Amino acid sequence: METQTTLNVHPDNAVVWHRDQLHLLDQRYLPGRAEFLALESAAATAAAIRDMVVRGAPAIGIAAAYGVVLAARARFAEQGADWRVAIEADLAQLAASRPTAVNLFWALARMRERFATLGGGDPVPELLAAAQAIHDEDRAGNRRMGELGAGLIDEPTEVVTHCNAGALATGGYGTALGVIRSAHAAGRIHHVYADETRPWLQGTRLTAWELAESGIPVTVQADHAAASLLATGRIGWVIVGSDRIAANGDVANKIGTYGLAVLARHHGVRVMVAAPTSTIDLALASGAEIPIEERDAAEVLACGGVQVGPAGVGARNPVFDVTPAGLVDAIVTERGVVMAPDTDKIAALMRGG
Ligand code: MRU
Repeated sequence: METQTTLNVHPDNAVVWHRDQLHLLDQRYLPGRAEFLALESAAATAAAIRDMVVRGAPAIGIAAAYGVVLAARARFAEQGADWRVAIEADLAQLAASRPTAVNLFWALARMRERFATLGGGDPVPELLAAAQAIHDEDRAGNRRMGELGAGLIDEPTEVVTHCNAGALATGGYGTALGVIRSAHAAGRIHHVYADETRPWLQGTRLTAWELAESGIPVTVQADHAAASLLATGRIGWVIVGSDRIAANGDVANKIGTYGLAVLARHHGVRVMVAAPTSTIDLALASGAEIPIEERDAAEVLACGGVQVGPAGVGARNPVFDVTPAGLVDAIVTERGVVMAPDTDKIAALMRGG
């Protein structure tokens, strides 16, 4: 991986195809250090997803789609017409990078479907167009979700968000933060509380940076400060994204979302989940079947790279949890809104009914 800084540093520009390379705004060091990594192979793309250079469900899928383009270029150069066989190892490597966000597998499946339609020549132009279409559709879908989600907020209010479901986590604009951006522009949200989101601090580092760049008033709070804030009655909505939504409307999202949704229900605060339909996994009947990634204990036992826990003590580090559909007031997708989600309503949304 090569580091370079000539591209425009902006949250809406986190995944960029430029001069035949995939450039990722390195999210491990934001906002302190803003630099792009230039990737030239599927292996480097898989490593970047695993190591969280790029993160957030839709952005992971988009990066993987470009990773398939890089793989096809290498395999076609090495093997000619046999590239379709050779590329399977690259697809497997990309698929093994992170387990929870279904957008990764959705994007790989969509790129694979494209293979079948290609002739015997160089696959790169067609596959690049397919990856760019995934990227463009995601951006457009986020704008649509922004409008739909903002439309649910009936009176000006303050909101809480958890993790980062913004431009950085998507093809641009954001899902939960897209709703917040649209609602702020329409005068319906005047302040955002961003949970810090231990242990990786997506809220403190990424959401706070994104909202500040967009001129939206934001205050960071420790995750466990949400309860007393919700108790004040000032918060109209909790607005979050998702990594995978099961057929019954159960929602996997960053660890802590479930607790926040329980608190919200206790205090009569509504919960909105904004996610594209590429996040909905009809193959899983309920959230109990969603694979939950466990990351290194060191993420929990250290702070800012400094070990704070005693030597020899382990840590649990499940990085997602599942919020039961019953705690979700609205799922906002680019195809429409599902209120009080359940299996029938999600199926109708996916059928286009
Ligand atoms: O571990 P991360 O940072 O990839 O987790 C991201 C989240 O949980 C987001 O809320 C989710 O992917 C939605 S992003 C639009």
